Amino acid sequence: MAFRDHLKIIQGQFMTSFDQVMLKKSIFLNASVLSPHYVPKDLPFREHQITEIMTILSSALRGQKPRNLIIYGKTGTGKTCTVKHVMEEFIKAAKNGSMHYVNCRIYNSRYRILQKIMKNYVPELEKSGFGLPYLYEKLIEIASGGQQIVLVLDEVDMVKDLDELVYTLTRSNDEIQNGGVSIIGISNKLSFKDALDPRSRSSLYETEMVFPPYSAEQLQKILSERVKEGFVDNVVDPSAINLAAAITSQETGDARYALKLLHRAGELAEHENKTKISDSEVEAARKKVEFDLTAETINTLPQMHQIVLYSIASLSLSGSKYTRLEREKDSGDEGALLFSGEVYEDYERACKKLGKRARSTRWYREYLNDLEVLGLISTIPSSKGIRGHTTLIKMCSDPKSIKDILHKLLWPN
Ligand SMILES: Nc1ncnc2c1ncn2[C@@H]1O[C@H](COP(=O)(O)OP(=O)(O)OP(=O)(O)O)[C@@H](O)[C@H]1O
Ligand SMILES: [Mg+2]
Repeated sequence: MAFRDHLKIIQGQFMTSFDQVMLKKSIFLNASVLSPHYVPKDLPFREHQITEIMTILSSALRGQKPRNLIIYGKTGTGKTCTVKHVMEEFIKAAKNGSMHYVNCRIYNSRYRILQKIMKNYVPELEKSGFGLPYLYEKLIEIASGGQQIVLVLDEVDMVKDLDELVYTLTRSNDEIQNGGVSIIGISNKLSFKDALDPRSRSSLYETEMVFPPYSAEQLQKILSERVKEGFVDNVVDPSAINLAAAITSQETGDARYALKLLHRAGELAEHENKTKISDSEVEAARKKVEFDLTAETINTLPQMHQIVLYSIASLSLSGSKYTRLEREKDSGDEGALLFSGEVYEDYERACKKLGKRARSTRWYREYLNDLEVLGLISTIPSSKGIRGHTTLIKMCSDPKSIKDILHKLLWPN
């Protein structure tokens, strides 16, 4: 057969299979409604919280400064979407009021937060170079025109100089004539309250609200609503929804996790050319979602934490001094136990390779503590006899995958 005929056949086959791909019906109606950034119109089981926040903010509509509010709740309990929902309503209703949302994971200092908010009023601020006093004066000037300014500080515990920020905003109210500035802080970290200066604590915690985790029944309802918008009719088996809700409520009651589980189950079904999502896809998605969440956590870690974790993953794979000394390997794929000292030495080497200065052992212990709080590692104080009192470290997930993620982050090229 001539080369040209071969080519025709190959092209023909390719065209057919490409056409097939294009014609294949997706089981998703609109996958974006399953994304964590989507704010649904209705928020079942948060009606009470919505009313309470609206009641607090209603003072602003009457020209009075609302009380400051702090919202606490575990991850995925609907804090962000509830406040965003109220914000949409507030903006529609307020004549002399404005509400600004700031994600403090990104804007994590007093200066950056004020700059972000004031940009909405003073476009020239796009070009940086304006000092804090200027931003402060502008805030007072704008509020004094009779404005009630409400700042939503999401993930407020991430603000490095939170005491200073709260103090600055509180003090601004003494200088504003007609208007006011108030704060809605959102956090999923219970302990950060204790780290605050007593003065800013009492100011920020004027009102406190707790968002409870969702039960399996509540998650089931939330998922069913989203399935209607996100998937083609009858694609998702009702028992798959129940299973996703049950798995999630056993773990944390985190609605984000439940939605991810369903999203991943849909992708798996589609990948395998299935037209239905049943229990088996949800089960299979579970591992993937856990890994997705770990990967997200690692992505948002500061670099020094990433380097320490990289060393832990590397040593877990290459074999540790502890293993050699004790001649007992830990149960396979979860990785071996490591001496804290050998991890620190490896961390120093990794820093050198990256052209970074390694931090002191005091900082290193802080990093280990943070990594443990995030559930990435666990530490065990060693029993007597093993080099006095050292800490033993163990990786909580598969070290190979963790090392691969970190390698890409630390050495992108
Ligand atoms: N009552 C609800 N009804 C419908 N969807 C919800 C509800 N609560 C949460 N969700 C969905 O769950 C996901 C997580 O919600 P959200 O981002 O508001 O959680 P959060 O409490 O802010 O979590 P974190 O502390 O991790 O920031 C979002 O996709 C949101 O749309
Ligand atoms: Mg949130």
